[in-house]
Amino acid sequence: MEFYDVVNARRSIRRYKAAPVERERIDRILDAAHKAPSWNNRQCWRFVLVSDPDLKAMLGRQIGNPSAECYENAPYALALCADPTDSGVAGGKEYYLADCGAAMEHVQLAAAAEGLGTCFVGSFSEYTVRTLLNIPKDVRVVALSPIGWPDEAPEARPRASLGSLVFENGWRREHAPFEE
Ligand SMILES: Cc1cc2nc3c(=O)[nH]c(=O)nc-3n(C[C@H](O)[C@H](O)[C@H](O)COP(=O)(O)O)c2cc1C
Repeated sequence: MEFYDVVNARRSIRRYKAAPVERERIDRILDAAHKAPSWNNRQCWRFVLVSDPDLKAMLGRQIGNPSAECYENAPYALALCADPTDSGVAGGKEYYLADCGAAMEHVQLAAAAEGLGTCFVGSFSEYTVRTLLNIPKDVRVVALSPIGWPDEAPEARPRASLGSLVFENGWRREHAPFEE
């Protein structure tokens, strides 16, 4: 798929088929993820892939976001983790979150290119995920995502107009390139 077709096709998927996904697809997605940019190329991210059906189902039951069924049906779940000491802090901004955001977006776009669904999940009990997956205390769990074949085809969610978001030559809208 052409890049902008992938961008336009990607959706957050919250219903999955229980059909298997070839491991090579997952490997390509992870390869894309670790080609994301990161603070000083420190690559603070760690990818915890969950394919064990019992563990995955337990994760779904205990997290419930987007739903327990997502994790049961989708053959893979990904916990995107980071070691913050492998990234940077500037002006009070902790860039391990930005590193992980970039990696997760590569995951989502690569999955979309494969025809697979994902959902960037940020709301969960980090303690629960850490305990279930035996993740060390100093490693942050930044995001979760099921990965599997979509069992829904949601419409694109609305976006604010670019004209309301884009400024040019400073914080001003005059001559902004996108007309409403
Ligand atoms: C940082 C972040 C956290 C998110 N957390 C959740 C979440 O906890 N649960 C969920 O169902 N979706 C979550 N989402 C997905 C957003 O709801 C979704 O991206 C947004 O509604 C736009 O829809 P789209 O991805 O289909 O374009 C999250 C997305 C981001 C980027």
